[in-house]
Amino acid sequence: MEVDVFTLFPDAFGWFERQRHVVNAVALGTRLEYLNYRNHTPLSAGQVDDTPFGGGAGMVLRVDVVEAALRARYGRDPVELRGDRRVIALTPGGRLLDDALVDELAREPALTVLSGRYEGFDQRIVEHFASDELSIGRYVLAGGEIPAMVVCDAVLRKLPGALGDERSPVEESFSSALEGAPEYPHYTRPAEYRGWRVPEVLLSGHHARIRAWRLEQSRARAEGRSLP
Ligand SMILES: C[S@@+](CC[C@H](N)C(=O)[O-])C[C@H]1O[C@@H](n2cnc3c(N)ncnc32)[C@H](O)[C@@H]1O
Repeated sequence: MEVDVFTLFPDAFGWFERQRHVVNAVALGTRLEYLNYRNHTPLSAGQVDDTPFGGGAGMVLRVDVVEAALRARYGRDPVELRGDRRVIALTPGGRLLDDALVDELAREPALTVLSGRYEGFDQRIVEHFASDELSIGRYVLAGGEIPAMVVCDAVLRKLPGALGDERSPVEESFSSALEGAPEYPHYTRPAEYRGWRVPEVLLSGHHARIRAWRLEQSRARAEGRSLP
């Protein structure tokens, strides 16, 4: 998979790049790059934003600047690019990221992620250059770098070999293996701590009963039921 993240702050991704699953995904052939809009701005003094028409607080990322950055990278009109490559504009009001969408993105050969800053994107960027408008939640962060990391983290850990154990991303909260429900609880040693016992079934070694218990716990969590 190829992932290009467009940002004004490529340095923000230093910690993310060092995470084990990201390192693994890259070692197994994923290409992950960060591209600074500012490097190709057609405006003087590295300008990338401007004041909003109609007035109001903050600055808006310019459409000509984003077009120049996309053209420099892909050598083609971004209006056409989005027809055969997922170009994701990160916006608080976009489609909410969930496990099904992460699975869908993980099957793509290439992703482009556009991080906004300040007041956000000129709307023409979203309407004409992006194939998707995506939100990581109904709240507002200062910039698209953390949302971009959230998207890349969730997608890359789904790639074969990214996690140490191939089973890890299969049966997790919201996965189809758990019928979209939150995951069941986990316990480890000691089996008893301050009088809090681990459920007996998990110590039984009886795989079918453990499986049934876990699925029941998962369903109960989805329905907001509490189980003994
Ligand atoms: C301060 S925000 C802009 C908020 C915008 N004025 C609004 O009210 O929707 C700057 C940038 O951060 C990113 N961002 C902030 N919160 C986000 C979220 N919940 N999901 C996705 N991107 C987000 C977007 O790229 C956005 O353009």
